[in-house]
Amino acid sequence: MLTKEQLQEAEGLSAVEAIRRVTEWFPEGVVFSSSLGQEDQVLTDMIFKHTLPVKVFTIDTGRLFNEAYELLDRTTARYKQPIHVYFPDAADVEAFAYEKGINSFYESVENRKTCCYIRKVIPLNRALQGAKVWITGLRAEQSDNRQDMPLIEWDDNRNLYKFNPLIRWDYQQMMEYINAHNVPCNPLHDRGYISIGCAPCTRAIEPGEHPRAGRWWWEASQKECGLHGERNK
Ligand code: ADX
Ligand code: SF4
Repeated sequence: MLTKEQLQEAEGLSAVEAIRRVTEWFPEGVVFSSSLGQEDQVLTDMIFKHTLPVKVFTIDTGRLFNEAYELLDRTTARYKQPIHVYFPDAADVEAFAYEKGINSFYESVENRKTCCYIRKVIPLNRALQGAKVWITGLRAEQSDNRQDMPLIEWDDNRNLYKFNPLIRWDYQQMMEYINAHNVPCNPLHDRGYISIGCAPCTRAIEPGEHPRAGRWWWEASQKECGLHGERNK
């Protein structure tokens, strides 16, 4: 277990130094889940540029934008380091499509959460098996739900530390890093897509709209897919 002193020390470090320190505390078993969004591309840049011993992976739900696949290719070509790709279980997807309908996430929140569970949460849990530390690109200002998330917290459900190096970064700070380091990004961000998930469940936002308004825009729900929060086991 990490001590209070270690947690405090991490708080005082820059994002990249905090990641480095965590990999010293846990020489094995530090993994990073990348959605290929802007936050995640910043972390990928830090991890790959500094050759930090972190396994980087992404979950291909099977419903991503083609721009995301192109970005995945560009990113591995640029840094010449692997991003592991995890897929959903074929039988789960087939059963969902047969029983509910391939696009039935538009019909009810329950169907939508089931689709996210099958396509994202189950593969995530598989990718996290054996991991000691799970790095994410969460930022507090993204949603109310993320407001109070700490830099490092013990995740009792998954039995590992969840580590959010950018939790206190604001949007401008992230963009400054992206521009200063010429970080490869999804071209959809320049077309009004801020938070990007699966293609059928993401739309561009209008000026003044909440950054996550384009996710599951037809729902009035919490706008979370279950990776972070409820229903993750
Ligand atoms: S979501 O819960 O709404 O889908 P969001 O897109 O904001 O999540 O991303 C938050 C963090 O969840 C990312 O920084 C990343 O760590 C993880 N994440 C989300 N989607 C994926 C994905 N497809 N593959 C891997 N990690 C993901
Ligand atoms: Fe399914 Fe949409 Fe969730 Fe992707 S975001 S897993 S398509 S419901």
